[in-house]
Amino acid sequence: MTETSTNGTVTYDVIDRIAWVRFNRPDKRNCMSPTLNRDMMEVLDLLEFRDDVGVLVLSGEGTAWSAGMDLKEYFRDTEAKGLGATRAVQREAYGWWRRLRWYQKATIAMVNGWCFGGGYGPLFACDLAFAADEAQFGLSEINWGILPGGGATKVAVELLPFRKAMYHAMMGENVDGKTAAEWGLVNESLPLDQLKARVTEVANVLLKKNPVALKATKDAVRRVGVLSYDDAEDYLIRAQEAANSYDNEGRKEGIRQFIDDKSFKPGLGAYDR
Ligand code: ACO
Repeated sequence: MTETSTNGTVTYDVIDRIAWVRFNRPDKRNCMSPTLNRDMMEVLDLLEFRDDVGVLVLSGEGTAWSAGMDLKEYFRDTEAKGLGATRAVQREAYGWWRRLRWYQKATIAMVNGWCFGGGYGPLFACDLAFAADEAQFGLSEINWGILPGGGATKVAVELLPFRKAMYHAMMGENVDGKTAAEWGLVNESLPLDQLKARVTEVANVLLKKNPVALKATKDAVRRVGVLSYDDAEDYLIRAQEAANSYDNEGRKEGIRQFIDDKSFKPGLGAYDR
């Protein structure tokens, strides 16, 4: 049964251990208002440690994934209330994106349509991203007179080569899902009518993995990027040893099924949990 956040700006269903979370302001192309940001944090809170949730998928109702920040409610109305109000709504927006970047469960952005500006925050926060060929991605900030803030410039530089990031940020032109995949903004692009099936397939692969190892792995990929090789080596040893204290039996079972039972090969799939 579809659940709705307190103010109705986010909807979600949990089906077969996948939480399908959706921006729910289709009439406003799912742009992020302060209310939506508050609702999204509420929903992330509700789902993060539920035993019946293994993967979270973020998509949008209607024709948009998210048209970025709400230019009226997030910018104009809030700025009229002064700096304190501006900082407060920034904390709420950046807060749920950060929460999603380090989410306990594996996360997938399913970009079904428009994805602009501030939308790059949650796009990058999701571990994996799949887009519809029909989706449109743009750093449109320059088109209305600001720089790509709220982390959007950082996301472009993290995901794109320098020249592409610069062009994307300076020109304010959109790219479709296929180009977004070629550039590395998303993992893959598919026709819209095949998108959900592909995301379900990927989510079902993730659901078979050891969840402690999955969380340690996704954090490691994000952490090591800013570390030296030696620091990364050290971090990874410590991260695995910390993971062992939560789940030492999992990897022992994996070794046992491979070495003793010969019932699976780690190079070809996951062990039977
Ligand atoms: N902020 C506030 N309202 C928005 C936003 C937004 N980001 N995006 C769409 N809306 C509203 C429109 O004002 C309109 O409201 P109304 O029905 O009350 O008039 C409604 O959503 C529908 O929008 P349309 O423009 O009519 O929809 P259309 O499908 O023709 O176009 C598009 C979609 C291209 C996404 C267009 O709405 C648009 O350009 N939106 C702004 C995209 C953008 O640049 N976002 C900001 C990025 S920068 C940042 O996030 C910091």
